[in-house]
Amino acid sequence: MKIGVLKETRIGERRVALVPESCKKLIQAGYGISIEKSAGEAAFYLDDDYLKVGCTVEQDPRAITRSSDLVFKVNAPEITASRNEIEFLKQETVLLASLMPLRYLNIVRELATHKISAFSTDTIPRTTRAQSMDTLSSMANISGYKGVLMAANELPKYFPMFMTAAGTVFPAKVFVIGAAVAGLQAIATARRLGANVTATDVRPEVKEQIESLGAKYVGIELKESASAGGGYAKELSQEDKLKQRELLAQQCAAVDIVITTALIGGVFAPKLITVEIVSSMRSGSIIVDLGAEGGGNCELSKPGETIVTKNGVKIIAPLNLPSTMSTHASLLFSRNLTSFVLAFTKDKAFQLDLSDDIQKGSLITHQGEVVNSRVKEALAKSGGA
Ligand code: NAI
Repeated sequence: MKIGVLKETRIGERRVALVPESCKKLIQAGYGISIEKSAGEAAFYLDDDYLKVGCTVEQDPRAITRSSDLVFKVNAPEITASRNEIEFLKQETVLLASLMPLRYLNIVRELATHKISAFSTDTIPRTTRAQSMDTLSSMANISGYKGVLMAANELPKYFPMFMTAAGTVFPAKVFVIGAAVAGLQAIATARRLGANVTATDVRPEVKEQIESLGAKYVGIELKESASAGGGYAKELSQEDKLKQRELLAQQCAAVDIVITTALIGGVFAPKLITVEIVSSMRSGSIIVDLGAEGGGNCELSKPGETIVTKNGVKIIAPLNLPSTMSTHASLLFSRNLTSFVLAFTKDKAFQLDLSDDIQKGSLITHQGEVVNSRVKEALAKSGGA
């Protein structure tokens, strides 16, 4: 069976879906691999590195997709004036990528129309067996880490406490909103740099995890549970929202850095930091809005941009942070895909098995239909089922 790997063409994307280390494993398992010329270059994996482990390198993406049974990508296929990657794929190709299907419903429609069996690695169920395949966690970890480094770089202060001949400076105060994969990594990174860290979440079960990293948990007692199952949170009731706003206002006004990572259903960012909260923050303080991909957790965030408010608060709303660490982001992404494929390889071939919970959870389109229930629902709501 043959795997094809396409070069990522989305603006600013530096990752590649498969790195040579994984290619070696897949070739040992019986697959042939063809990779688009210079696909790994921006992540510092060179064509020669792929050739050395037994891949072929090809210039023409269509030649790759024509002969591939499986196609790997980081992002959903691109449809631009010069390159329609969905049209490159032959019918019944198995596509493996982080499709973000709820954000890109138009791509899902096209994949179904073209009869592609498309797996989205970001909808893999949160089970122990699937942990090694979860690209969302691998990438969120990078965002949490890098978000804190960006804040440290911009903060006009030290992170750790310093006792100097000129006297003592006290550690920076960091407040993390949302304590799942990205948030917990942000807490750990800020702690490693010596900051005083406080964190909150609407799922009270994370209190212990926050404390185990040496941070202080702050939270409100919710009237209604915010847990939507599968590790996801749902939107708070109006009453709970107002209660939480008071807590956020108090905390944000008292710290140097706010890192936000809150998502609803793993996709959309609730607006938690209002204009009023920002206006009560100290001049020189920083907000890093890691919810920017989902629209942003701060009312003033401009996804992809950095702004400074009149009262001197810098709001950084970065997009695609994993791409800024393209070598390790690609390595981890690639290991996740490889783990997925090897789990379903028998007789040197990938086996579709829709009775398996991991495949069922992550298969989005198959045989001309949208088969994932959350995506189907979203399509129906958008009027395009
Ligand atoms: P996510 O990216 O969907 O959400 C981030 C965090 O924001 C969540 O903790 C959520 O509760 C919080 N949040 C939502 N609304 C909020 C609000 N108004 N205020 C404060 N916080 C708010 O979460 P992620 O990283 O995808 O993980 C969710 C859970 O799933 C975690 O408990 C994680 O450990 C678990 N998980 C398990 C995996 C496995 O077992 N294979 C893999 C990935 C995650």
